[in-house]
Amino acid sequence: MALPSSAAPLPLAGKTVVVTGASDGIGRAAAEQFVTLGAATVVLVGRRAAKTEAAATGIVAATGRPVVHCEIADLSRRDEVAALAARLRARHPAIHVLANNAGGLFLDRGLTADGIEQTLALNHLAYVQLTLALLDPLLAAAAPGAPTRVLCVSSRAHRNARVDFGDLPLARGYGGWRAYANSKLCNIWFARALARRLDPAQVVVHSLHPGVVRTRFAEDNGPAGRLLRWVMDRVSIGAAEGADTLAWLAWAPDAARDSGSYWVRRTRTQPSRAGADDDLAEQCWRETDALLGMDANVVVAAARARSLAG
Ligand SMILES: NC(=O)c1ccc[n+]([C@@H]2O[C@H](COP(=O)([O-])OP(=O)(O)OC[C@H]3O[C@@H](n4cnc5c(N)ncnc54)[C@H](OP(=O)(O)O)[C@@H]3O)[C@@H](O)[C@H]2O)c1
Repeated sequence: MALPSSAAPLPLAGKTVVVTGASDGIGRAAAEQFVTLGAATVVLVGRRAAKTEAAATGIVAATGRPVVHCEIADLSRRDEVAALAARLRARHPAIHVLANNAGGLFLDRGLTADGIEQTLALNHLAYVQLTLALLDPLLAAAAPGAPTRVLCVSSRAHRNARVDFGDLPLARGYGGWRAYANSKLCNIWFARALARRLDPAQVVVHSLHPGVVRTRFAEDNGPAGRLLRWVMDRVSIGAAEGADTLAWLAWAPDAARDSGSYWVRRTRTQPSRAGADDDLAEQCWRETDALLGMDANVVVAAARARSLAG
């Protein structure tokens, strides 16, 4: 990781960072970089306590900075996302960076405990639900010239999406890669749509492609998953390199503007034509409301009003 100039104070000094999917892969590597970048607190969100705590122990050993905390939640379950958000709000009244990163590929269609297709639930709905539930601490952490940041790990795979708004959970015509690509397009749409509703002087929202990264991604899909991993590993970058753009977006002055953008290798990049379409982003926003049973416009407006009321 290229650090900012040694004369400058560490860019995340005093800041609280929350990163999901932090027990492994890109999220774990990013968490370590957030610690190295001086964050006062880095919250590792994982779904398995022992594995997440082992990641925390490894990060403290590697950095010498005991600033990590673990939170455990299965992010494919709405009740667990809600409970996680409530704990985070209680423990961290100011959150400067939220890195929505936990995600997966499921070659076989499956439903979550809530009866929602699991790719959509984990890769998209959890990003939305968690972010909206953390708007109070995100707005509270905003300072003049230093907006807080919501970062959504998407993928170049979004370019292969074929979204049917009449059937986001792909009850018909499920394919694992299609579900994955669609969910990653939803990440880009969510970043765009949320950015339009927030003052970029307070909160900026970005999506990104981390690169093709050597992680455990897709491995839990039986022999097909292991074969896929073997192929991906031939062309992958390491997890630290894969976490670089995510970590950079958390502090770089260049990323404090252009809210709603999509980034690849620290560079603002044009997403697919669909990804750049604000009408489609709005349609996704409305369909997401229906799936989550809420009115996200009301949630955002209420959080902004509370923030103004001080
Ligand atoms: N690897 C790539 O080439 C690549 C390329 C483009 C985009 N991405 C994106 O990068 C993000 C991270 O992927 P990765 O490559 O780092 O994959 P990974 O190594 O499989 O890590 C995924 C992380 O998400 C967690 N997770 C999975 N299901 C969860 C659940 N139900 N609740 C809570 N946490 C859960 C995992 O926890 P466990 O440790 O318990 O499994 C792990 O910490 C994903 O959004 C992915 O779409 C990856």
